[in-house]
Amino acid sequence: ATQYLVVNPVEPEPDKIEWAARVLREGGLVAFPTETVYGLGANALNREAVRKIFQAKGRPADNPLIVHVGSLVEVDNLVTYVPEKARRLMQLFWPGPLTLVLPRRDQVPLEVTAGLETVAIRMPDHPVALALLRTARVPVAAPSANRSGRPSPTTGQHVLADLQGKVDVVLDGGAARVGVESTVLDLTTEVPVILRPGGATVEQLREVLGEVALDPALEKSDPEWKPRSPGMKYTHYSPEAEVFLVAGSPRLAVQKILELCKKWQERGERVAILATEETADYYRRGPVVPDHIEILGSRRNLEEIARRLFNALRNCDLNQATVVLAETFPDEGIGLAIMNRLRKAAGGRVISS
Ligand code: TXA
Ligand code: MG
Repeated sequence: ATQYLVVNPVEPEPDKIEWAARVLREGGLVAFPTETVYGLGANALNREAVRKIFQAKGRPADNPLIVHVGSLVEVDNLVTYVPEKARRLMQLFWPGPLTLVLPRRDQVPLEVTAGLETVAIRMPDHPVALALLRTARVPVAAPSANRSGRPSPTTGQHVLADLQGKVDVVLDGGAARVGVESTVLDLTTEVPVILRPGGATVEQLREVLGEVALDPALEKSDPEWKPRSPGMKYTHYSPEAEVFLVAGSPRLAVQKILELCKKWQERGERVAILATEETADYYRRGPVVPDHIEILGSRRNLEEIARRLFNALRNCDLNQATVVLAETFPDEGIGLAIMNRLRKAAGGRVISS
């Protein structure tokens, strides 16, 4: 059975942390909050435990996991070499939403890296995660704690909805602050490459590193391109409903969304709309009335939109939507991560307005 523990997110209770740390050390699965999304953790050096993660999530075995550390010294046991650039990034961004891909040491099981000779590592910026990592004193492999393909969990209840009975402990430390996953940066090439946009922005990374490339797979146009971050090739973040992105300025998108809403409803679909504070009134006013509206936040605050995105996608399912129509956002700052997750949720279905 799953043990659900509510933990103080600022000063986690030591007895709860010790309990969860022991479960980890003994080869069990512990879901825990991070600043980005909830993780489903296992001792990264225990192959059996790591295999349980893939089972619990229904995750394809060729999709590698991120190893979480609670201190910088742990990194040296996981990688053969830490380039100067990596050291600098760790100093500036850790703890925080930046994952670094580095050459793997032999002791990191291939189960963790899905057979790759590299390993992805990050130090999460959350008191509960850090307390857990520092108490367990083992590196913790942890993907997002959702069933494979579902939107990542930003609350303990999301974890429970997906993994009840499949995880030994859930530590509930409240809602995640960032709301989208960490940025995955490959440092094994001459020019660092962003494999997945996330909480640390391209702009921030370029300020430190100068040149930073985006994995061409993120430019989405070429269907033949094989993404180098294996996780990026799967349909992801999807609610049960079919998601459509409606591109164009908010003004034009609203018109198009209302038009599409009417059309889908006439065909018997239940239509949910992912709206913003700036546009919500247009959907409420009629004459077309959507079955459900999720307001992501204000367009002037993309951080807020990121924080609420996955919960909004889950709410569309809870409201039995069969079609979700979503507005788009600028590809700037955290907007790049928002748009990446929305494009994946939509499986490439983008309609211009
Ligand atoms: O914010 C996050 O990163 C969350 C929290 C829990 O830390 N974790 C997370 O893990 O999002 P996951 O497994 O859902 O996503 C890990 C991503 C996948 O796209 C995977 O393919 C990529 O990182 N990845 C992991 N190891 C890699 C490697 N050695 N080389 C390239 N990509 C890697
Ligand atoms: Mg994930």
